[in-house]
Amino acid sequence: MSELDRLVSEARIAFEGAPDSPSLEDAKARFLGKAGALTELLKGLGALDPEEKRTRGAEINRAKSLIEECLSNRRDALAQAQLNAKLASESIDVTLPGRSLGAGSIHPVIQTWRRIEEIFSSIGFEVADGPEVETDWMNFTALNNPENHPARSMQDTFYLEKTDSTGLPLLLRTHTSPMQVRYAKTHAPPIKVIAPGRTYRVDSDATHSPMFHQVEGLWLGEDVSFADLKGVYHDFLSRFFEDDQLDLRFRPSFFPFTEPSAEIDMRFSSGPLKGRWLEISGAGQVHPTVIRNFGFDPEKVIGFAFGSGLERLTMLRYGIGDLRLFFENDLRFLRQFA
Ligand code: DAH
Repeated sequence: MSELDRLVSEARIAFEGAPDSPSLEDAKARFLGKAGALTELLKGLGALDPEEKRTRGAEINRAKSLIEECLSNRRDALAQAQLNAKLASESIDVTLPGRSLGAGSIHPVIQTWRRIEEIFSSIGFEVADGPEVETDWMNFTALNNPENHPARSMQDTFYLEKTDSTGLPLLLRTHTSPMQVRYAKTHAPPIKVIAPGRTYRVDSDATHSPMFHQVEGLWLGEDVSFADLKGVYHDFLSRFFEDDQLDLRFRPSFFPFTEPSAEIDMRFSSGPLKGRWLEISGAGQVHPTVIRNFGFDPEKVIGFAFGSGLERLTMLRYGIGDLRLFFENDLRFLRQFA
């Protein structure tokens, strides 16, 4: 193998072994650069006579073009490889399955809300809705709350800076009971209505949340009695909990807007809570003063009201121990009700 052939083959090996373009350019300098092997050979031509110069010069030039061809091939190959790598890294696999949005589900408290609406609608109750920002009169005074009642205090009630037409601050309703007043003032007896909704109190622990849900019930007519309350509420609970045998107990209590007033306790006939009395609702015969505030004559219109907590009903139905789970929006919890 001639010296020139060896040079060409060395160059080819060096170029092909260059892993990237910087090392390829280094290799190029070794053969074709100013101090490269080929340049040195060309410099040597000067010492030869004209005849030798021509043949030797032609040989060196042929070797030079071969080396340049190798270089250019390798440059192309490296550029192609770089492009391929870039394409591979940036490519989108259109065959991958799409990201789904996932199906949402109804919050357990709202499931209870709907269930209550269904049950009461089926026995002839209307469903009413009203404002969460209330006046002092609707939330307290009309419901026979004495001026100094502790529920009015800053500790229990969220007050707004805005005042109503009488100059008293507006507030977030502390119960759904003002809906009794709103509904009765705009409807004539007989009145048979429930009003589920959000309520607010300054309170927060394992069994209290500053926002919670209640359902108010009101049945007014000529002769709607405490016995009707017992019948309706028993029917509601047995259907809500799907327990035909559950027991009810009416414990004497006090609410300013009812007389007599009762705390309703219930007892499951089976399941993990079987045999335990559980407080479930406040209720009573609507107080004559409140009937008068509705705009009716308490000698002619009587009836009962109740107010029950939706979180409480939901916790008992599903065996949930901590009220805060309803408001944390932990999907592991919520998915169980999907
Ligand atoms: N409003 C009462 C509360 O939030 C609950 C209540 C008790 C409502 C007795 C009533 C009732 O309608 O008759 O604690």
